[in-house]
Amino acid sequence: MQPVGRFATEIDEAFPNAIDPLALSLNENPFPPLPAVRSALIRSIHAVNRYPEFLPERLRGLIANRIGLPADRVVLGAGATGVALQALHALTTPGDAIAMASPTFDGYPIIARMARLKSLTVPLERNGHNDLDSLADAAASARVVVVCRPHNPTGTLAPGAALLRFLRRVPRDTFVLLDEAYIEFAAPEHWIDVSALVARFPNVVVVRTFSKAYGLAGLRIGYGVASPELAATLWAQQLPFGVAITSLLAVAASYNAEGQLLQRIQAINAERRYLQMRLSATGIYTTDAHANFVYLPSRGGRGRPWHEVFADSGLQVRCYADGGARITVGNRASSLAVLSATGKATLGSRMR
Ligand SMILES: Cc1ncc(COP(=O)(O)O)c(C=O)c1O
Repeated sequence: MQPVGRFATEIDEAFPNAIDPLALSLNENPFPPLPAVRSALIRSIHAVNRYPEFLPERLRGLIANRIGLPADRVVLGAGATGVALQALHALTTPGDAIAMASPTFDGYPIIARMARLKSLTVPLERNGHNDLDSLADAAASARVVVVCRPHNPTGTLAPGAALLRFLRRVPRDTFVLLDEAYIEFAAPEHWIDVSALVARFPNVVVVRTFSKAYGLAGLRIGYGVASPELAATLWAQQLPFGVAITSLLAVAASYNAEGQLLQRIQAINAERRYLQMRLSATGIYTTDAHANFVYLPSRGGRGRPWHEVFADSGLQVRCYADGGARITVGNRASSLAVLSATGKATLGSRMR
C-alpha cells in the first residue's frame, strides 16, 4: 500500500491543470466542483465496487425531466464527444460523408476518422460565423452535417432564424448534429426550444455536455436529444455499464445547485467581456463569442503570429494552422497573463 501523503502528491502531479490559471487550451471551467457536487461525488465513491445501472435509465430520466421531455428522447454518452460518436456509429456506414465547418471542435475530424467517414469541410465566414448556406449545400451530399452553436473555436452564434432556414434546407435523410456544448453561456433569448425542434426536425440530434458550464469535464457526461425514433436508434448503441456510478449523483447535485452554477456562468461571461474589452482597447479584434473562450483571428502577417506570442508566455492556448488562437476564459489572473502576452506583441509590432 502507498502512504496517503505520497498518493496526494501523485494526484497533484497527475492533474497539474486543475489549479493552473495558465491552462487555457481546452475550454474547461476554471471553478473547482461546487461543494454539493463534491460531497455527492464523495458519497458515490462508497459504491464504486458495484457496477452502475446496466443502461443509464435513471440519469436519462433525470435529464429528460429537467429539460421537460419524455425520457425516450434522451441518450447519454461519455461527454458530448461520446454522444456524437455514438450517433455516427448508429447512423453512418464507412465511406459516407460528414459535412462540418473548418475549423471546428477538434473532436469532429477525429470521430469522423474513427467512423471512417469522408469529411467535407466548409470554411467559416470572415467574421467567424458558420457559412450555413454552404453547409446546407454540402449536407446534400453528406449523411451527417455538424453545426456547433455557439461555434468552437470562434464562439459565434448562428441566429435562431438562420438555423431554422438551414434545417429546412437539409435533406430529411441527412442527420444534423446540432452541438450545443456551450449553450448555457449564451443569453436565454438565443436558446432554442429543443422539444419543439426535435418534434419538427426528426433528423436532428441536439448534443449537450456537463463538461463546460457545469464544470464536470473530468466525469465525461454528455447527452443527446432527438425524436423518439432517432433516439431509439442511438439508445441501441448505449454501452452497457457505460456511464460511471458517479454521474447520477453529480448531475443531481448540479441541478440542485443551479443558482450557484448560474452565478459562475455569469462570472465567466463577465470575465470574457473584460478580456475582450481590454484586448479591443489595444487594437486586437476578437470574434463575437457567446461561450467561455475568445478567438483571435490570424494577424495576417501584421506582427508576430499568435502561436509565437503565446509560445513565449507560459500560457497554454489553442493555436490554429491559419494563425488564429483560441483562449479559454479563466480567472482574472489568467486574463492578466493573456493581456501581458498580447501587450508585448502589440508593443513589438508598433515599434517595428
Ligand atoms: C463544440 C464542442 N463540442 C463538444 C465538445 C466536447 O465536450 P465533451 O467534454 O462533452 O466531450 C467540445 C469540447 O471542447 C466542444 O468544444
